[in-house]
Amino acid sequence: MNLITVDAASCKRDGLCIQDCPTQILGWDANGLPEAIQGLEALCLNCGHCIAICPHAALALGALRTVDLEPVRSECAVSPEAATQFLKSRRSVRLFTKELVPRDLLTRVLDVTRWAPTATNRQPLRWLVIETPDKLRELSRMIADGLRPIPYFERMVQGYDNGVDRFLRGAPQLIVAYAPIEGFDPSTDCTISLAYLDLAAHAHGLGTCWAGVLLAATMFNSAIVPFLGIPDEHKVCGAMMIGYPQYSHARIPERNPLQIKWA
Ligand SMILES: Cc1cc2nc3c(=O)[nH]c(=O)nc-3n(C[C@H](O)[C@H](O)[C@H](O)COP(=O)(O)O)c2cc1C
Repeated sequence: MNLITVDAASCKRDGLCIQDCPTQILGWDANGLPEAIQGLEALCLNCGHCIAICPHAALALGALRTVDLEPVRSECAVSPEAATQFLKSRRSVRLFTKELVPRDLLTRVLDVTRWAPTATNRQPLRWLVIETPDKLRELSRMIADGLRPIPYFERMVQGYDNGVDRFLRGAPQLIVAYAPIEGFDPSTDCTISLAYLDLAAHAHGLGTCWAGVLLAATMFNSAIVPFLGIPDEHKVCGAMMIGYPQYSHARIPERNPLQIKWA
């Protein structure tokens, strides 16, 4: 099967698909229609830009046609003011109710992360949701064990010993992001996807907090990654506590002034 197929009757020969192809593997055929340049098909990132940009629905990428794609709905467009307020009002939540976020809601929130940008569109993310209280308790214990010798974490470990878990903060669920070790930049891909998760959760009124301490602890307690059941040749790239917030922040805290140089 050809990489792309073009409906000659619908194609207006505007060349948008050719211009927008990130790896520049599309060109013109002898009839003035777009085609995949022979020998370069393997460079396709399968990003779908060519079919998504075609205003005339003239293209198919493999079996997928423009008309099969979800349309961008203008009625859902976010104003700059709403987007700014939304982004500024996201807070790290460290006080959770005990209620579990239903799996179907968590699945919908995680599903949005599939549209996070990833290097060369590899989409390497895998997710693990831990929601069994015993497992979360054991994980906190392992984090405490790992961080116990590190002076920076002394107070957190002391708190843990005194019954205050500042590692996982009593969140009812913990989402761990992992990815195959090989690949261009799995850690960056994970971080961006976690940021998507953070924002998607905020949109649903859920509370989140990055669990950087878990990542730190994996460096000092080699039992954590096997405990999580992360497959070989994969790495844990980040984690996020999630649940329903007990409280909300009525105001937006201040931040450092913007530092910007123009050149
Ligand atoms: C990579 C990363 C790791 C973090 N790790 C933790 C953590 O382990 N525990 C925690 O309570 N907060 C953690 N945070 C949250 C930051 O402390 C928080 O983002 C910062 O204080 C600003 O507050 P805000 O998120 O409410 O704007 C982390 C944030 C990031 C981006």
